[in-house]
Amino acid sequence: MNIEDIKNICIIGAGNMGHQIAVCCVLAGYKVTCTDISQEMLAKAEAFAKSYLPERVTKGKLSQEQADMALDNLCFTPSLEEAAGGADYIIEAAVEKMAIKRKLFADLDRIAPPQAILATNSSYIVSSQIADATKRPDKVCNMHFFNPALVMKLVEVVQGPHTSEETAQITMDLCAKLGKRAVWLKKEIYGFLVNRILSALSQEALYLAEMGIATPEEIDIAVTNALGHPMGPFRLMDLTGIDLTYYRTMERYQNSRDPKLKPSPLVVERFIKGEWGKKTKKGFYSYE
Ligand code: 3HC
Repeated sequence: MNIEDIKNICIIGAGNMGHQIAVCCVLAGYKVTCTDISQEMLAKAEAFAKSYLPERVTKGKLSQEQADMALDNLCFTPSLEEAAGGADYIIEAAVEKMAIKRKLFADLDRIAPPQAILATNSSYIVSSQIADATKRPDKVCNMHFFNPALVMKLVEVVQGPHTSEETAQITMDLCAKLGKRAVWLKKEIYGFLVNRILSALSQEALYLAEMGIATPEEIDIAVTNALGHPMGPFRLMDLTGIDLTYYRTMERYQNSRDPKLKPSPLVVERFIKGEWGKKTKKGFYSYE
């Protein structure tokens, strides 16, 4: 199998990442079916595509024909069978819960054609933790996009010990077709490259705010103006979701019991209040 055999892509999960990955794939000329258990998420994802693509035409970034073709090639369904049944490549972007992912991969293994590749967009769950839920571990890998997936150029492709060279190569080639810059990691490591670096930055930023050395706004101003990052760590946590930061740090702390990894009270407080960032209209900043 090679990249030219990939025609139909299935995206599992229409949330923050899934809906944008789906649009990336149709824009690269693939036929894409996006599925989610939530009808509401599917409706939101469809509404996004229907407003985003014409907006790109208005901005002169896309021709009317390209937008029409992308909309024709994109469909949404709550049925996993319908979405995955004819897929050549599947990108799972469901919630970051191990049990859910393992169940999904077992179902996908049953439903998807035997040659289909099953990739996970998971940020922290390495594919060796889910590959054994399938009978095709050689066709399982991590394909990690960044938020917003339509804009951010990088994808981390992570080859687990079970992943074949062919699967990793096709995934690298798919990234190129999507117009992404990919890095190929041949060893699994928690957080891959970018989230390890980012979490060191956020941890220090949270510590400085907790100690009252500077406010989140001041720290964001410092980072954007001194380091040239488009967003400071607090605005970025609002974008990616304070709930995700909470789950990730809590899990890491519980596994290590290292007091240095204890979630920051600034994160815990907002998590409990349901102030999860942009998606709830309030986090470190207000988006009303
Ligand atoms: N969806 C799609 N496109 C978007 C977008 C969105 N949510 N937000 C902005 N854009 C596009 C705009 O359409 C515009 O495109 P154009 O130039 O082709 O017309 C372009 O991005 C710039 O948009 P704006 O001028 O409105 O906004 P900014 O210049 O402020 O850029 C940003 C917004 C792209 C989000 C920028 O602030 C940025 O790059 N922030 C950093 C994001 C980042 O670091 N992401 C990685 C997060 S870590 C992660 O994802 C890991 C995961 O595991 C959680």
